[in-house]
Amino acid sequence: MTVREILKMGDPRLLRQAERVTEFDTPAMRELIADMFDTMYAANGAGLAAPQIGVNLQLVIFGFKQNLRYPDAAPVPETVLINPVLTPLSQETNEDWEGCLSVPGLRGVVPRWTQLRYEGVDQHGAPIRREVDGFHARVVQHECDHLAGILYPMRVRDFTRFGYTEILFPGLSDADDD
Ligand code: NI
Repeated sequence: MTVREILKMGDPRLLRQAERVTEFDTPAMRELIADMFDTMYAANGAGLAAPQIGVNLQLVIFGFKQNLRYPDAAPVPETVLINPVLTPLSQETNEDWEGCLSVPGLRGVVPRWTQLRYEGVDQHGAPIRREVDGFHARVVQHECDHLAGILYPMRVRDFTRFGYTEILFPGLSDADDD
């Protein structure tokens, strides 16, 4: 049980293409995943990608019943997703606000595919294949972007809708700020 340091935007380790995971159920992988959950929960995050703690592997976690950073978001099942592949189910996109634990204190509006299929494996190497929409689809796209070295500000198109959380959303409980 260890809360790891979350790298912040500007750190070149956040800009790398992550490598595929080839070993499952090893002590090192179990420890990594446990630490990622500890780190995500300590920061009230909706998701976390391994590169955000400096581990350059295609491994993301996400999920919550209720999230302080996104109080209006519907629940998302707690998921470990490894070596993911995302496929949009239509070309339709929608825009909504996002934040990132690696970009503390800021929020921006980001276009994302509205509906997608994601495939990959879980922590045991068992296949995962889901078709999702809404915030679930958004959080998967955000986390998987980290595996390609993409941070959400790189996808912001309208910088009039990018700014400090405390100004944009006064009163929003946001562990962004530390
Ligand atoms: Ni992020």
